Amino acid sequence: MLFWQAPSFSDYPDFFRYHHREAGRVTVEWDSAESILFAYGYDPVTVAGTGITMWEFGAELTLRTGQEIDAWMKSDPARPVMHFSPIRQWMNDPNGLCKIGEDWHLFYQLHPASTEWGPMHWGHATSTDLFNWTHLPVFLHPEQNLWRLGATGGAFSGNAFKDRDGERMFFYTERLPAYDLFKGYREIQKLARLGQTALHPIGSETVIATRPVDDGVEHDFRDPKVWWDETTGAYRMVLGAALHGDPAVLLYGSDKLTDWTYLGPIYRAPTHYRENGARAVECPDFFSLDGKWVMVMGFVGYTEPSTGRHNLLFAQVGDFVDDTFVPDTEELQVLDFGTDFYAMQSFRADGRQIAMAWLFNWEDRKPPGSPYSGEMSLPRELRLDAAGRLLMQPVRELEATWELEPLAIAGDGGYRLEDAPFDLRLTGDLDQTTIVAAEGKDVTFEIVVSHGSVAIRLPHDNGKISYRAQYVSATDLRIVHDRGIIEVFVDNGAICGTRRTYQSVAPDRITVESQAQVTLFERRAVQQPRSVGAAA
Ligand code: FRU
Repeated sequence: MLFWQAPSFSDYPDFFRYHHREAGRVTVEWDSAESILFAYGYDPVTVAGTGITMWEFGAELTLRTGQEIDAWMKSDPARPVMHFSPIRQWMNDPNGLCKIGEDWHLFYQLHPASTEWGPMHWGHATSTDLFNWTHLPVFLHPEQNLWRLGATGGAFSGNAFKDRDGERMFFYTERLPAYDLFKGYREIQKLARLGQTALHPIGSETVIATRPVDDGVEHDFRDPKVWWDETTGAYRMVLGAALHGDPAVLLYGSDKLTDWTYLGPIYRAPTHYRENGARAVECPDFFSLDGKWVMVMGFVGYTEPSTGRHNLLFAQVGDFVDDTFVPDTEELQVLDFGTDFYAMQSFRADGRQIAMAWLFNWEDRKPPGSPYSGEMSLPRELRLDAAGRLLMQPVRELEATWELEPLAIAGDGGYRLEDAPFDLRLTGDLDQTTIVAAEGKDVTFEIVVSHGSVAIRLPHDNGKISYRAQYVSATDLRIVHDRGIIEVFVDNGAICGTRRTYQSVAPDRITVESQAQVTLFERRAVQQPRSVGAAA
């Protein structure tokens, strides 16, 4: 009996869903494996535990679930092993981060039809330890078939939120069909409530349909973050935008979560940013931490004249009084001097402020043929120090899931590396430190500390962009490396730099010249017991 058939695939991607409501064997036939871009199956009753089953069409149909997906992902020698990446296709920003019961939920911007950015969906994965992930069905789809329209847009970034009654929901942006990447589009804000199972939203409604055009807000109007504000006794939302061309963060207020009032801008960037290319704020994050309020923003389009860097994330610390953000200093803290750390999203859970970011800056791409693009940073815990600087450090769960194994220095003054993540720590006088990781004769990366400045260099850097940061009196430096992801933490995490290289990802040797004390660890995965699901 024929249950379901797509007679032919069209010139543009289409999304099909089929529910098989009978028990027994099913025969699947196909005649064009290449036209199936992303396929998965699942049993709604068990998928939360087992994860989806990926359907890989070739000469045969290969089904992979749970550990089989993990093993397939690990078989790619170019894929980082400690950092989250999507099974297939394009990923960008982390979205909707939250903890429900014992499960951490990570949603992310996903384009399931290719390894390039395109019509946006929300991918979804869960974990009990923030490092081992179970891949779940796509959570949000664009409102319309944007591929067919030849348009982009869709379910853009947003946050998870729990209201005063404990109801879990998500606020996100829908970019309506867009025919230009930089202007003339329309962005609306939507609310998706979460069903019992946390697998699908049980409805999605528009809560802000128009932007404050008369106040000078142009097409950029996105990436909501919502919270319950104790002092005003009402809900508050920030949105990334531009105000008369200056990157800005807008504040909205609501009593019911379904209708929102514009309360005005709470941040407007100095003209310097607009003059150097910044078009808008993206992914504003605003949260209270250690008695203060912290604003984190990406300025899309901005190039820093003194270094040539773009894709920078900035933080500012201050107070939030009467719906006004009063920064302690006008200066913005550069959150990552390496610039491969963008669209950071943080959330509160277990008494900690935890964040993840997308490791990408549009300078470089994975080599052609990769089944996916995009990785997340290590989950990080955020703190403030006495000087009011935002500190970031890998979360403590890293220690329980990836054990440290000390490495001894080899006779020639270098360390031999296996193809495993490593964690290098220096304490003491950092000045005149040079760290070189190499794969055979090829340098993977170089870190140089000299006269109060720390820099990460990749061999293919052309000198036009300088990835460095100044520090005043640091005595600690830590580097975590995982298959071409280099995350640097200096001065307790007040200075962080992340870079992603795709050229050389498995250094076999590292040399450290330094007056500081050096310890090098390899990280070994602690085997987690995990259920393997039955194929769908
Ligand atoms: C940041 C961003 C967001 C937007 C999303 C679209 O990387 O541009 O502003 O919501 O990505 O994928």
